Amino acid sequence: MFLDTGNILEIARNIKLGIFEGVTTNPTLLLKEKEERFQQINKILEQDINLIFVQIVGDGKEQLKKDYEKIQKINTEKKIGIKVPINRDGLELIYDIKEQDPEQSILGTAIYSADQGILASLAGCDYIAPYVNRMSNNSLDPYRIISQIRTFIDDRGLTTKIMGASFKNSNQVIDTLMAGAHTVTIPPDIVEQMVHKELALSAIQVFHDHEKQLDQWIKR
Ligand code: E4P
Repeated sequence: MFLDTGNILEIARNIKLGIFEGVTTNPTLLLKEKEERFQQINKILEQDINLIFVQIVGDGKEQLKKDYEKIQKINTEKKIGIKVPINRDGLELIYDIKEQDPEQSILGTAIYSADQGILASLAGCDYIAPYVNRMSNNSLDPYRIISQIRTFIDDRGLTTKIMGASFKNSNQVIDTLMAGAHTVTIPPDIVEQMVHKELALSAIQVFHDHEKQLDQWIKR
């Protein structure tokens, strides 16, 4: 799983769970941190994580490429994965990046259709991010789309992994994984929803109380 945030405290707190392969960010998440973009990315790089996806921004392929080159300057430890929006410019840029550096990890983002997922997989993206909640909000069926992309990837033996993204509740996360996503990127509030289960907590409390009672009974 990946953690979808640009917040240092949330990253530090949640990586202790030992379930996250990396962190994903986007311009909206970084804006929330009210810090200069590269400074914030550097702070995230200081955390104990091996892969942090940063989205390249720009109007048109040349600007996207320039942003990619700027990001590469701080990518000295090769921990930064590049998020590329999947449209014509993005696909062309992915081709250039993979030609230059086949090891560069790429996440094709802003996927709202099976068409984009198929093109991004053929372009050699390491991951693709279908936007689950945003698709549902636009009367699209994210689970059908994920399942179609997964079938395409498996049938052709492609190596792209589907990373479900854009979640507003934990049921969406489970449905995404059951539809065939290889992994998901989830924001801290959904991690909390998945960890904090009232029924489990009250059962754990009862066991704890009974263990104390047993302890007192033995001492009597
Ligand atoms: C992650 O890669 C996406 O940018 C993110 O999950 C989008 O989430 P949102 O729809 O909540 O903005």
